[in-house]
Amino acid sequence: MLSISVKEFLFWKKKQLSKGGDLQSFIVLLDCVGGISTKDLNLLSIKQECNLYLKKNLDCLESIWDKHLLSSTPIQYLCGISYWRDLKLKVTDKVLIPRPETELIIDIVFKIFGKKSQQLFFAELGTGSGAISIALSLAYPFWEGIATDIDQDALEIATKNYLDCSENSNLKFCCGSWWTPFESFKGKLDLAISNPPYIPKDTYEKLPDSVRNFEPKIALCGGEDGLKHIREIIQKAPLFLKERGWLILENHFDQGDKVKRLLLDNKFTSVEIVNDLSGVGRFAIGRYK
Ligand SMILES: C[S@@+](CC[C@H](N)C(=O)[O-])C[C@H]1O[C@@H](n2cnc3c(N)ncnc32)[C@H](O)[C@@H]1O
Repeated sequence: MLSISVKEFLFWKKKQLSKGGDLQSFIVLLDCVGGISTKDLNLLSIKQECNLYLKKNLDCLESIWDKHLLSSTPIQYLCGISYWRDLKLKVTDKVLIPRPETELIIDIVFKIFGKKSQQLFFAELGTGSGAISIALSLAYPFWEGIATDIDQDALEIATKNYLDCSENSNLKFCCGSWWTPFESFKGKLDLAISNPPYIPKDTYEKLPDSVRNFEPKIALCGGEDGLKHIREIIQKAPLFLKERGWLILENHFDQGDKVKRLLLDNKFTSVEIVNDLSGVGRFAIGRYK
């Protein structure tokens, strides 16, 4: 641990933020690499005469910040950490950085099943860093879950995250494309969730460099109209869900009505589009018959 005066630190912080970037990313850097939590940071202005302890020196933190600003590399990849709900997850460029809007999926599950639900069996298709499945397996220790991904590297990260976050063993990880890992679970799932790649081809080409140059293409591209994977997931879901089982999907901001139609065409009932916090129809939910 390195000790420096709070005054010196605050002066340095102001200088770094004046170069650009956003405060949220800077906070991630200070917490994950510098060892200064948000709580500690908030208290610094009233502790100006004190010293503070850093895990890395200011030069080291500054070189990471400069790299972030110059190359647009997401700070989460440079620090190897992303915060999501109350989880601190390892991330590398093999996994999508879990997005704040996706956090609402967990609240949708709470709304459907309540916080104290009986035992049930869930699946997450395309787990990436494991965020959704890990949050569910912690919230519902009596549930059993299987989280899948087509990318073995992503699954290794998800598995590490689960082992770091949980002492339970109610979540398994399986590699394979969409429903293939579930061949022996036909008609057995109470709930299936997916935040699949849904960016249309043209939109992908116009994504900011910080996304297109760093995040895995396989986690983002949903084919020509963005619905390639969503279509496959919905069409095959009836084979794997129990009767009255739920399917919850995240979609692109303008796909809600199309996803709703796909669910209705495939005999789903109780179909609903759920808005995210900015009022966008971000999730589609439905029940198989
Ligand atoms: C948008 S990311 C979502 C990651 C994570 N669930 C989240 O919400 O942050 C989509 C994930 O689907 C995976 N994926 C892409 N194609 C797949 C396929 N055919 N079968 C299974 N997973 C796939 C990607 O590797 C990626 O991890």
